[in-house]
Amino acid sequence: MLRLRHVDLKKEKIQILAVPVCEDANLHHDPALTTVIKKAKKLKEFNGKKDDEVTLYDLPEIKAQRVMLIGLGKCVQVDLETLRSMAGKTAKYCIKKELTDVWITVPESDKLKLEMSAVLEAMQEGAYLGNHLFVKYKGTNKKKALKQINFLVTQETAKKFRRLPSTVASICQGTTLARDWINTPSNDKTPEKFTKSIVSAANKQRLAVTVLNESDLKQKKMGALLAVAAGSQSKPRLVLLEHKAKGAKKTVALVGKGVTFDSGGLNIKTGTTISDMKADMSGAAAVAATLITAAKLKTKVNIVGAIPIVENMPSGRASRPGDIIRSYAGKTIEIGNTDAEGRLILIDAISYVVHKFKPEMLIDLATLTGACVVALGEKIAGVFSNDEDLAASLILSGAKTHERCWRMPLPDDYKELLKSDFADINNMPSARWGGAITAALFLSEFVQDTRWAHIDIAGPAYSKKENAYCGAGGTGFGVRLLCDLMKKL
Ligand code: BES
Ligand code: ZN
Ligand code: ZN
Repeated sequence: MLRLRHVDLKKEKIQILAVPVCEDANLHHDPALTTVIKKAKKLKEFNGKKDDEVTLYDLPEIKAQRVMLIGLGKCVQVDLETLRSMAGKTAKYCIKKELTDVWITVPESDKLKLEMSAVLEAMQEGAYLGNHLFVKYKGTNKKKALKQINFLVTQETAKKFRRLPSTVASICQGTTLARDWINTPSNDKTPEKFTKSIVSAANKQRLAVTVLNESDLKQKKMGALLAVAAGSQSKPRLVLLEHKAKGAKKTVALVGKGVTFDSGGLNIKTGTTISDMKADMSGAAAVAATLITAAKLKTKVNIVGAIPIVENMPSGRASRPGDIIRSYAGKTIEIGNTDAEGRLILIDAISYVVHKFKPEMLIDLATLTGACVVALGEKIAGVFSNDEDLAASLILSGAKTHERCWRMPLPDDYKELLKSDFADINNMPSARWGGAITAALFLSEFVQDTRWAHIDIAGPAYSKKENAYCGAGGTGFGVRLLCDLMKKL
């Protein structure tokens, strides 16, 4: 679907040609394009300022049916995210106009202080992700995605980067897979159904798949995970996915929170939009999609994904506030609040993975706390880590993919807030403030001496509003980030 090609604009039949334009510099070598941009600027139809746009028809210089000029703003301010967004908006515009194909010209100018490979990657990502639709549940007014997205480049560039489109497409397909899972309503992704969907996608990629069902979990004494699942009609699962790389020594573990619906349990949620809690499995979706992508790309490191999947519901069988349970690791936990369920399912998965696989490092992703959204807003994830290098590496990957991460502290003395009068630890902190930190500290009690990072994605996992390259709903946050990190290890 993504293609890099060089063609003659005078001859090629094109539905729409999208051209990124700076307000203060010419980014394109093609004389026909330069003429068209100059004319538009001269008539003051268009000035190249950010988000300025104009569509021109029937130009003598270019055979395309439409040429759309899109402003990028000042040349020095253009970064990869500007280009990613431009490509995403272009794809969305074309979908709205019911087109099937688009051509986007790639600026190949040294005026942009950006690497060509990074420019190509960003533009292809934006277009691919902007072209994603979740219309499974629509009968009427069903939008149609573009069939072909072409990038106009020089012959040399097309040749040099000929393998890039399929790599970018694979990674973005991971992101859109995660988005589809997140957008699926909870009635169609009960733990059993979500598990089946993961397993069927994983089996297509030669991943080793193990599913622990309720009786396996009981036999293994995963008391924390089982306590969260107790109130639901639907049975819990722990899904293990393994990507084995030939000759690789290192194993990285990824753990993702998979609460298919978080009602809060008996501490039922009030105030927040409870329907958004179908997205409480976004960490699980990101981890599963990353493993599937890693297998597809034959990533050179061993990866094990552990995905605890439950539904958090109130009922006569549900765990009560005040209940004391025993975790897989043996620590007893007082359930101070049934809505702090994410940490409970995560610690059993984490303990199990640490015990069984002894990974070099472990990263967990979770829509864990509203407090993290209060701290960092809806677009930035919180990173908590006991390892400087791992934290730095994650933050760098996030800057590259624009899945932004901000380091948060793990202060030892805050652990006091998790004390219980009756059990080893309480899942509910005794103070309201610093909730993202106390949640991370709770997890830290179960990682032993493993290099570990916890990414709280409660903010960026889900968005009520669409943006340049994502529709309203699940964003797939984490997949491109983790794929980039795995590439560096
Ligand atoms: N799934 C929620 C966290 C959440 C909030 C995700 C908003 C996405 C958007 C989590 O299980 C939860 O309810 N956490 C509680 C913890 C508290 C009871 C200690 C919270 O954040 O209020
Ligand atoms: Zn909750
Ligand atoms: Zn939750």
